[in-house]
Amino acid sequence: MQVIIMPTKADASELAAQIIAKRVRKFADSVIGLATGQTMERLYARLAQKHQEEGLDFSLVRTYNLDEYIGIEPNDPNSYRSYMNELLFNRVNIDLRNTHLPLGMAEDLDRECHLYERSISTNGGIDLQLLGIGKTGHIGFNEPLSALKSRTRAKALTPTTIASNSPLFKNPEAMPKRAITMGVGTILEAKSILMLVTGESKAEILAKAVEGPVTSMVSGSALQLHENCTVIVDAGAGKLLQGKDYYNWIFQNEPEWEEFRGIKG
Ligand code: F6R
Repeated sequence: MQVIIMPTKADASELAAQIIAKRVRKFADSVIGLATGQTMERLYARLAQKHQEEGLDFSLVRTYNLDEYIGIEPNDPNSYRSYMNELLFNRVNIDLRNTHLPLGMAEDLDRECHLYERSISTNGGIDLQLLGIGKTGHIGFNEPLSALKSRTRAKALTPTTIASNSPLFKNPEAMPKRAITMGVGTILEAKSILMLVTGESKAEILAKAVEGPVTSMVSGSALQLHENCTVIVDAGAGKLLQGKDYYNWIFQNEPEWEEFRGIKG
């Protein structure tokens, strides 16, 4: 795992956008795993800008989102499908048929989860998986005690997650209490992982995920098992990390990061 601490949220989002853009420029038909949430808003705005200003080409890119609420229509303003269409897909030249989210309205949820997994493997697996982390340590909606080998499935959300996300609903009571999410095992199969975490409110859980023991109580800690995982944070989120100086030294000195040094958001 490589942890990169950027001064601000804007700088962290810009670095994440540049890493994704580099991948898409090099491999036009990349399969990218996407996340939703407030942390990703600025990153998607930067990707859309790179499409408009630099011609970043999404025409062959295929995407798989981590999760979707159960019981919500795709065109509901609070669905993750609406979030993605609005913040990214409608702003770039991606073919909507190449964008995938689990269907939260599926009658047979087990079948939907199985088909989602099958579709990911039919497309050759995920090349780069983008992740955020929730206050419970969840990646996707893998709440505490999600098996480290779990696959895409329906998962009950914790009261903490419901409290974090329900204010985003016009009627907070209407927030679904369950979601379909890729499993921790599904996420770990991605060829590379990019986690973006910003804000002091995430400092404690981030330190647990990155420097604490690997435990299903903090799903994000499973990323320690992945051989190609980069975690980009801002100073607020990185505040409690013990190894800060070492992580900074690597970013400033290892050749693979040279092109990304000095990035400003
Ligand atoms: C969303 C997702 C979640 C979020 C996490 C952080 O698709 O998978 O794991 O990344 O809940 O959300 P924000 O960024 O809103 O704090």
